[in-house]
Amino acid sequence: MAWRIEKLGPDLGAAVTGLDAAAPLDPAAFSELRAAWLDCGGLLVLRDQDLTPDSQVAFARRFGPLFGEADQLQASLHRYLLPGQPALYRVSNKVTDGVPQGRARAGDYWHSDVSFRARPAAASLLYAIELPESGGDTLFADMCRAYAALPEGMKARLAKLEAVHDFEVAARTSGTYDAAQLEHRDFDGQNRAVHPVAITHPETGRRALFVNPGFTAAVVGMAPGDSAALLAELQAHATRPEFVTRHQWRLGDLVIWDNRSLMHHAVVDYDGRGTRTLHRATVIAEPPRA
Ligand code: OGA
Ligand code: MN
Repeated sequence: MAWRIEKLGPDLGAAVTGLDAAAPLDPAAFSELRAAWLDCGGLLVLRDQDLTPDSQVAFARRFGPLFGEADQLQASLHRYLLPGQPALYRVSNKVTDGVPQGRARAGDYWHSDVSFRARPAAASLLYAIELPESGGDTLFADMCRAYAALPEGMKARLAKLEAVHDFEVAARTSGTYDAAQLEHRDFDGQNRAVHPVAITHPETGRRALFVNPGFTAAVVGMAPGDSAALLAELQAHATRPEFVTRHQWRLGDLVIWDNRSLMHHAVVDYDGRGTRTLHRATVIAEPPRA
């Protein structure tokens, strides 16, 4: 293949140069790229892209059905979809004539995209269009390596557990959602789901922790204090420095991450340092399985 791939870290992540995601990619080449994405742990950076909304969406569709097409993101985010291209969710601190051009401070907490749905996100494909002078990195935590490093006793305990994920956790507690802009219909049960606490990745077969502070409300069947203590313990473990990778964005980066094996966290440290605008296409996963 004409592209080059370079590891970003010892265990997680790779960067691809010499590949134009807007150009036709035959099925064999796409399979190779998808395999490279899975092999590197699910964090692939395609450098130097020049994408239109339609070309980003067309490329993302090759990974599977998209939110905005086959299903919808929560209603509170609909105002941030790109006009005319509902499969793209705009992350931006830009405000034009008083109108936000995207969601500011999106993802300013550890989370796995859309984990509060029975069919959450598989891949997210986030494309950097405008970046501040400095700052605005994104952190990724490797939930496969975090799971693998747990004591065997803990793995056995987790194998029997499920957790409730609920959009309301982030909506009401993250401090990044403006209460006035939350849509009431988001809280009538359609953004709540139960998933195993440890899942088996459907494509790699690797086991992964699947709880996140952004959206995980409680472990099913546990007393609230015990549930909170277990979730806090897993969170502290999963975000240990050896499991975390920091992506420093370059203009034209298209970052493809796997929400089934990673959590991520936006670093919002660029106030007063310029505009940050990225467009996300979000692939719908199969229901997670233990
Ligand atoms: C997202 C998200 C992080 C960032 O787009 O899903 O969490 O750094 N973004 O913008
Ligand atoms: Mn996110």
